[in-house]
Amino acid sequence: MNAIETTNLTKYYDALCAVDNLTLSVNNEIFALLGPNGSGKTTTVLMLTTLLRPTKGSATVCGHDISGDGEGVRKKLSYVPQDMAVDIKLTGRENVRFFADLYGVPQASDRVDDVLAVMDLTDRADDLIKTYSGGMRRRLELAQALVHEPSVLFLDEPTIGLDVAARKKIWEHIRALRKKGMTIFVTTHYMDEADQFCDRVGIISKGRIAALGTPMELKARLMKDVITVKIDGSFVPPEVDGVVFVGSNGDEVSFTAENGREALPALADALGKSGCLVRAMSLREPTLDDVFLHAVGQQEEPQGFEYNKFRIMLRRRR
Ligand SMILES: Nc1ncnc2c1ncn2[C@@H]1O[C@H](COP(=O)(O)OP(=O)(O)OP(=O)(O)O)[C@@H](O)[C@H]1O
Ligand SMILES: [Mg+2]
Repeated sequence: MNAIETTNLTKYYDALCAVDNLTLSVNNEIFALLGPNGSGKTTTVLMLTTLLRPTKGSATVCGHDISGDGEGVRKKLSYVPQDMAVDIKLTGRENVRFFADLYGVPQASDRVDDVLAVMDLTDRADDLIKTYSGGMRRRLELAQALVHEPSVLFLDEPTIGLDVAARKKIWEHIRALRKKGMTIFVTTHYMDEADQFCDRVGIISKGRIAALGTPMELKARLMKDVITVKIDGSFVPPEVDGVVFVGSNGDEVSFTAENGREALPALADALGKSGCLVRAMSLREPTLDDVFLHAVGQQEEPQGFEYNKFRIMLRRRR
């Protein structure tokens, strides 16, 4: 039995299809759902945690049906939402105790002490939450979420707005929970975190899974080198065999190439002839960012001049 199993899970908000026939199995792993703003990540989590009724399709958590056995599902999971989930007027200990009592946790005082210690919060447990840093609040939310010993943990953007050290610490805790056998379903916008800390990722775009696999599989599947070029002057994507323009960010433009090393001189030449000045060129292996842009670019139609040029070029190449 998989910890999370969804079959054609779908959610419409009136006419808007936020999650579109999501079929997914997650078990004994850290699974990251990645996607642009508004792609359906939180909606998916809300359905799986029984906080939102699906329009159609089904899902189970630890074998319990999200529509037919909400109570069974809720006993097995914990959920840390995207927005703050602690009462800032209470102390850390009071917040966690409140959750322990809600769940009827036996020997609650000991359990509260345990989870506060696991999240390195013992020293600050009796301070008001309003005196906590962002990282400490997030750790307290994790402590709260762990108090009834769930089998599955849903974390919606657990590291958003935290500094690098605090993010690392949160991930250390998440990895430790995974080692103890917990299944963790996380959403994030940080590709580097998904790449480094998650076992598998699903990239969702407009409610649909656009790519699914381990970070390594997804990068290998791209089978392309990435060339980034810093330019001055006006830019028109040049036509170079085996090279595809991906996008631009300020004065930096990116391409993918089947064989980057071979493509570099021809690309530099073509860019020069098109009238722009090449300041620097670099070649690297794909990252999860590239996988993301590739997967999302196939489904999304973002507005903007650069992107539309890219679409027109892709169509020409097909
Ligand atoms: N309660 C709601 N009523 C109507 N539309 C909604 C509601 N909640 C979300 N949506 C829409 O559903 C789509 C998916 O939203 P969702 O919050 O699931 O995206 P997300 O991937 O979590 O985005 P973000 O990365 O910004 O958190 C969006 O178009 C959003 O505007
Ligand atoms: Mg969200």
